[in-house]
Amino acid sequence: MTNIILLGPPGAGKGTQAKRLVDDRQMVQLSTGDMLREAKTSGTEMGKRVADVMARGELVTDDIVIGLIEEKLNGASGGGFIFDGFPRTLKQADALGELLARKGKTLDAVIEIQVDDAALVARISGRFTCRTCGEVYHDETKPTKASGVCDHCGGTELNRRADDNADALRTRLVEYYKKTSPLIGYYYAKGQLHGVDGMAEPDQVATAVAKLLDKR
Ligand code: AP5
Repeated sequence: MTNIILLGPPGAGKGTQAKRLVDDRQMVQLSTGDMLREAKTSGTEMGKRVADVMARGELVTDDIVIGLIEEKLNGASGGGFIFDGFPRTLKQADALGELLARKGKTLDAVIEIQVDDAALVARISGRFTCRTCGEVYHDETKPTKASGVCDHCGGTELNRRADDNADALRTRLVEYYKKTSPLIGYYYAKGQLHGVDGMAEPDQVATAVAKLLDKR
């Protein structure tokens, strides 16, 4: 069993690669973004509190996301956990280390998906996802084969995110560079960081990720 973090700015391809690892290696994707969006639509008190923060592109408080991850770590882990969009601050990284240690689990690799900022804007502005299975698409680079129908599950509810707009994206990038990019040094110092070229085609990125995991 392999537990990994997918690290990278908004639009780097973390969700895209996580979905492949779920299909190919039966790993379990833990996306704090998906969990928060689910809380938002289910109308819980916490969901209401985070909705505005997310729409602006700011980070939700550490305690909320750490709580969400802690709950999920008690569930099935299949071929291992993929932490997608978590941790995003040094406090979250410390908390993840403590949680895993408490549960007798290890963190096996941190994979940084490296992408130029200009490409991120183009990726985010064309993105849509299947509401049923979470498959990620793009207007130009990955449209659905049949219009309005998910290739993966046949679902017909295709959705664009409220925070995929120019203003929120600017804030998301600032948040990433201010609060999340210090994790690159944090995990490098622990000898756990591996970089992959996220500017390559998704298949090539997936091959690079698979090679890293197979080496272990
Ligand atoms: P979250 O949902 O985690 O969003 P994000 O980190 O901004 O990342 P994205 O989902 O936008 O991008 P991605 O890297 O998954 O790219 P994707 O594969 O979709 O977080 C949203 C919000 O929730 C945050 O702003 C914050 O408010 C809150 N939040 C979440 N976690 C938190 C935490 N831990 N702490 C505090 N707050 C938290 O790909 C993007 C597009 O590019 C797609 O269209 C895809 O088809 C395309 N694409 C993918 N790979 C390639 C490629 N190699 N070449 C060309 N196109 C590609």
